[in-house]
Amino acid sequence: MKPVILAGGSGSRLWPKSRAALPKQFLALTSDKTMLQETITRLSGTSAEKPIVICNDNHRFLVAEQLRMQNIQHGGILLEPMGRNTAPAIALAALHAIKDGEDPVLLVLAADHLIKDNSAFHQAIESANSLALKDYLVTFGIVPDVPHTGYGYIRAGSAVENGMLVEEFVEKPDLETATKYVSTKQYFWNSGMFMFKASRYIEELEKYQPDILKVCRAAVDSETKDLDFIRIDPETFKQCPDDSIDYAVMEKTKMAAMVPLDAGWSDVGSWSSLWETADQKDANGNVVIGDAILENVKNSYINAEERLISVIGLEDVVVVETKDAVMVAHKDKVQEIKNVVSRLKKEK
Ligand code: GDD
Ligand code: MG
Repeated sequence: MKPVILAGGSGSRLWPKSRAALPKQFLALTSDKTMLQETITRLSGTSAEKPIVICNDNHRFLVAEQLRMQNIQHGGILLEPMGRNTAPAIALAALHAIKDGEDPVLLVLAADHLIKDNSAFHQAIESANSLALKDYLVTFGIVPDVPHTGYGYIRAGSAVENGMLVEEFVEKPDLETATKYVSTKQYFWNSGMFMFKASRYIEELEKYQPDILKVCRAAVDSETKDLDFIRIDPETFKQCPDDSIDYAVMEKTKMAAMVPLDAGWSDVGSWSSLWETADQKDANGNVVIGDAILENVKNSYINAEERLISVIGLEDVVVVETKDAVMVAHKDKVQEIKNVVSRLKKEK
C-alpha cells in the first residue's frame, strides 16, 4: 500500500495563520508537528510503503524540509506547476506509480486532517485495503452530526466485508439537501481519504473524465527528475481541466465502497473546529495558545504568535494574532473568513 499525500490546498479558512506562502498543511496546529508531518507519521505501524507527496511547485522546499525534520523516508515529491484540484493530482500520482511497473493500492490522504485514534484508523485502513484489492474504490465514512455543506455525503447500502457498498455519493449538497440527508441517518460524510488500486482509478477516470487523464498521461510521460523532486511540465499541465476526485469519479463510479471511520477525525476546516477538537481547555472552556490574559472569557479560542492578547468579558470568540494581522471573530461566523481573504486579494 502506497500513501499519496495531497498537499496542494490553499487552506484560506485558517487565515491569518494560513497564507498562500504557508497553507494550513504546513502549520503545526494540533501538535508540535505540522499537519503534513502528522499525516505521514501517523501511518507508522501499518504496512504503508514510502509516501508520494504531491504539492505545488512553490512549496517544494517547505515539503522537503518538513519531511527531513522528521526523518521521513519518501518515494518522491511530485510538483504541480499550478493547482488543478484533486482529480488530476491523484491521476499524476497513480500514473507515476504505474510507470514504475507496479500497480500498488494507493492510500490517498489529505495532508491537513486530524485523526485522534490511530489504532482505529489503522484498522479501517486494513479493511479498506482488502476491498481495494477486490477492485473497489474505497472511501472512509464519518457519521455526521450537523448538515455541513462543505462535505461529500454517502448513502451506504448493503455490507461488503468490513464495509458497505456506496449507493449514492453527493458532493457538497445545498443546506436543504444536507439537512434532509442528516435527518435520515442513512448518510455518512466523505472524509476525503480514499483507497484503490492505481489502475482502477485510472480506468474510472478514463470512463468519466478522459480529458483529465489525457493531459495527466502526457504530463507523466514527460516528467523529469531533479533530486527528490519530480517535475511536471507547466505547458502540458496547464491544459488540464480543474476538478475534484469527488465530482470527477466518486459521484459517478458504480464500484464505490465505504469503510466507516470512528477515529476522532476532523478536517480542521475552521478556527472553531480547532476549538472543538482541542484536548486542553481551561476551566472556562477556553483554548489558549501563546501569551494571553483573559478576564471573564468563556468558550473562546485565543492564539497569540508575537504579542500578548488580552480579552475581557466575551464569550465564543476567536482571536488569532500574527506578526502582520489580527483576526477577531464570533466563533459561529468563522466561515466568513473566506470573504476577508477574497477582499484582501482584491483590495490590498
Ligand atoms: N496536490 C494537490 N493539488 N492537492 C490538492 C489540490 C491540488 O490541486 N487541491 C486540494 N488539494 C488537497 C488539499 O490540501 C486537501 O488536503 C485535499 O487535497 C482536499 O482538498 P480540499 O480543497 O480541502 O477539499 P474539500 O475539503 O473541499 O472537500 C474534500 O474533503 C472533504 C472532507 O474534508 C472532499 O473530498 C469532500 O467530499 C470531503 O467531505
Ligand atoms: Mg478540505
